[in-house]
Amino acid sequence: MKKTVRDIDVRGKKVLVRVDFNVPLKDGQVSDDTRIRESLATIRYLLDQGATKVILMSHLGRPKGKIVPELRMDPVAKRLEQLLGQGVRKVDDCVGEEVKKAIAESPEKVILLENLRFHPEEEKNNADFAQQLAELGEIFVNDAFGTAHRAHASTAGIASYLPAVAGLLMEKEISHLSLLLEKPERPFVAILGGAKISDKLGVVRNFLSRCDFLLLGGGMANTFLKASGYDVGESLVEDEMLEECRSLLKEGGAKFALPQDVVIADKFEAEANSREVPAWGVVPGWRIMDIGPETIEMFTQNLPESKPWCGMGHWAFLNSPNSPREPSP
Ligand code: 3PG
Ligand code: MG
Repeated sequence: MKKTVRDIDVRGKKVLVRVDFNVPLKDGQVSDDTRIRESLATIRYLLDQGATKVILMSHLGRPKGKIVPELRMDPVAKRLEQLLGQGVRKVDDCVGEEVKKAIAESPEKVILLENLRFHPEEEKNNADFAQQLAELGEIFVNDAFGTAHRAHASTAGIASYLPAVAGLLMEKEISHLSLLLEKPERPFVAILGGAKISDKLGVVRNFLSRCDFLLLGGGMANTFLKASGYDVGESLVEDEMLEECRSLLKEGGAKFALPQDVVIADKFEAEANSREVPAWGVVPGWRIMDIGPETIEMFTQNLPESKPWCGMGHWAFLNSPNSPREPSP
């Protein structure tokens, strides 16, 4: 296992922590704070161990290298302050002299930098930018499990300039994942969701060879449904992944469970009209928003003893004593 915060002495040190605070916002407020809550253990641990400053950095959304006012980290800082029960100093950039000064002068020990992706260098894993980030602290902690699949300046490049260790969330996720991959209880059932199959292709392939069943939901199920020949109307689909999905379905065969029924809506809005229909019954012009009640039943009824745990991405894994029914579309 990689070195973690437990293996180093942070007393008297400025610790720079990459977190994944890429959280959903609604009306300028955090609408799901799970990722923020999941980072509290590491932040509290570092403070308890005597770190002088805990400097947090994250991306938020996809501003594509420009300042997008709606994607500033201020609502995140506010929510973090509430959850942590102590002050959080938010600074308006993530590199440079002003930021260094703000960190040095901050009476608050916890500091949140501005959205890393306001700088195009972040996603390019630019070495100068990584070095500028590194100058803000003395130790680098990577706790951004949800962003672990991106080699960016704040997750990868920076580790060349500072002693780097994993945070407690990263440690927790990796140990759960390793256990599941090395010694899974059988049958081993994986539930996969999230919008982008392209992001998770490696994971799907990896699981296919290890697990007994793969239950598909979320946005990615639409692409698999379309690849299986269903008309999915206006649903979110990654058309460039259709071929890949077809070959995965062929490879995985009966391991795959696709939604049998779905919730559809006539638009992607709170006041949209919605209906539950079989997967083959998507109304032209409507879109799939979720799996339907029969699918929920199918996915869950055979898993009463299961112990679900959630990754910080959009998937969860279950070990189940029984196998789910095969899909019958
Ligand atoms: C996520 O939410 O999937 C991660 O924070 C990574 O974000 P990204 O897909 O925009 O790189
Ligand atoms: Mg993602």
